[in-house]
Amino acid sequence: MVRRRCYTKLEKKVPVKTLLDESQLNNGVEKLAQSINETYGDRPLTIVGVLTGSVVLMADLIRKLKMPLRVGVVQTSSYQGTERGALTINSDMMLDITDRDVLLIDDIFDTGHTLQEVRDLMQRLGPTSLKSAVLLCKTGCQKVDWMPEFVAFDIPDEFVVGYGLDYNGEYRNLPFLACLEPEDLGEA
Ligand code: IMP
Ligand code: MG
Repeated sequence: MVRRRCYTKLEKKVPVKTLLDESQLNNGVEKLAQSINETYGDRPLTIVGVLTGSVVLMADLIRKLKMPLRVGVVQTSSYQGTERGALTINSDMMLDITDRDVLLIDDIFDTGHTLQEVRDLMQRLGPTSLKSAVLLCKTGCQKVDWMPEFVAFDIPDEFVVGYGLDYNGEYRNLPFLACLEPEDLGEA
């Protein structure tokens, strides 16, 4: 079972394919925060996190931001296992963003369709500015003609879990980023 294999690795502290360890993640988020602080200075900022994958990044990132900050969320969901399905967006819990500087936060920019749809939805609400920040960008996978303004890490085209990212709802709590191994996927 995936669950048992995952926890076995955790107990032994020998994750087989760690892509980014805790210290690398922390450094990347620190640099991301620096760029965002430099870009916005003292201007008030409204953060909109894309649930559920951005929760860990959000918690770490917002505590490194220095401007007056409001935090809202939207929820999207598109993956079943490692396959993309139809995208749904729930924006019931989003803040008012009209005439605000807005920064979208997500875990990963893969094809880009998710953030593009959220961005289009938010653009219609009339923000003063709208930018995006992601922890990860999968190299060469984009199917849209724009890129997030802030990217902490470019990673290879592999299915990754941990630090908020899931496989069928699990692994979000791993403090490091790992590639899910083919045998883990096969046993799911
Ligand atoms: P996109 O729409 O293809 O850019 O995919 C973005 C969303 O798919 C992200 O917000 C993630 O929730 C999910 N996703 C994409 N790649 C991965 C991955 O490697 N692991 C876990 N989730 C992923
Ligand atoms: Mg997501």
